[in-house]
Amino acid sequence: MKVLVIGSGGREHAIVWKLGFSRKVDRIYCAPGNGGIGGQARCVDIKADNIKALADFAAKRKIHLTVVGPEAPLAMGIVDEFQRRKLKIFGPDKAATQLESSKVFAKEFMRRHHIPTAPFKVFTTSAEAIGFCKSVQYPTVIKADGLAAGKGAVIAKDEKQAVRVIEDMMERRLFGEAGASIVVESFLRGQEVSIMAVADGTTILPLLPSQDHKQAYDGDRGPNTGGMGAYCPVGFVDADMMERINEHILQPTINGLASEGVNYRGVLYAGLMLTDTGPKVLEFNCRFGDPEIQAVMPLLQNDLFELMMAAVNHKLSSFGKLNWRREAAACVVMASKGYPGKYSTGAKITGLEDVRDNNCFVFHAGTSRQGARIVTSGGRVLGVMGMDKNLKLALNRAYRQVSRIRFEGAMYRRDIGSRPGQPVKI
Ligand code: AMP
Ligand code: GLY
Repeated sequence: MKVLVIGSGGREHAIVWKLGFSRKVDRIYCAPGNGGIGGQARCVDIKADNIKALADFAAKRKIHLTVVGPEAPLAMGIVDEFQRRKLKIFGPDKAATQLESSKVFAKEFMRRHHIPTAPFKVFTTSAEAIGFCKSVQYPTVIKADGLAAGKGAVIAKDEKQAVRVIEDMMERRLFGEAGASIVVESFLRGQEVSIMAVADGTTILPLLPSQDHKQAYDGDRGPNTGGMGAYCPVGFVDADMMERINEHILQPTINGLASEGVNYRGVLYAGLMLTDTGPKVLEFNCRFGDPEIQAVMPLLQNDLFELMMAAVNHKLSSFGKLNWRREAAACVVMASKGYPGKYSTGAKITGLEDVRDNNCFVFHAGTSRQGARIVTSGGRVLGVMGMDKNLKLALNRAYRQVSRIRFEGAMYRRDIGSRPGQPVKI
């Protein structure tokens, strides 16, 4: 079978890597890929947002399954276009992707279907939002409605900051049209966890829980990033808690969508806060988390291609249960100095060939190939994964490999996975 994976990050490298173990897959293409994905797939020079060219490629090469990595092509309607052309594709359609692309849609959907989430109000004018902020408790959370590259949610510590954030989003349009509407919601306390699941429209199979580290620097300091590292599984999410999450959040979400005529197929990722009064949804995403999936895929024993095909063909109920290695995996992100702000690119990466540990893998993100050299080309450059009997050993393995890899300005957090179980600091 031939598979096309769309995207160019560490997440897509992990998907390609895992598909490479499938008994059914004999050729993998990745569009556009990056400097490392070429080791496991044929990279095709088509950008992830060029939907027509991607569909033409899939049709011409008779691709059996296309897998969409990032949210942008989903929100643009890539799945609708592929389906129109009778091409098999793994991912939710444009209407379903609103769960991620519109916070207002997601929050109102949760309210309609009694899915636990923070109390909230929606505003379409700054004057009303600012008026409301006089009466709320602080900290409070302000979210731009649309996609804002992970920067659209701000925790305001007082009214003054709330007013500034609202003006930035709604008047100065810092995130463009994404700030035309905003959500103001209560601040939740607890531990954050990422629950990713695969759905076929009616059945949903959760993957193991994982946790990422969003802030740039050790001790959860510094600006928010796309994620500086992740680990899996998460000790404080036991089988009972997973059952509760499935019963109160995942299944009701799929059922609620189905009752509104949305056949949700692909990944549903629920970012949750485990509060004193139970798990609550912070956000939904319609794709795998990056770097969470780099720590989850290595533990999955099932064939990823078969799992994705079962989701696309509405056959998850007969897929059986997912099997997992009874081990732990951790992924440490190596980033360019300055990320998530300005950073330079083009630095030569050395030491990649020294990673010879079978329980480690280096997922490439912002890298490109220049002849025989691999150079940096993005903010998050590499995700170094280690796997072992327990989290501590997995982390040791990952960090041992990190110390062998060098590029100018390389930065990484030294405390990935080091505080599982501790309350999240505010
Ligand atoms: P979001 O884009 O909605 O996932 O928000 C980004 C991050 O902001 C989350 O991962 C949380 O760390 C934080 N956050 C969002 N909503 C809340 C909330 N209601 N209470 C506390 N923290 C939140
Ligand atoms: N690591 C968070 C995300 O992928 O949204």
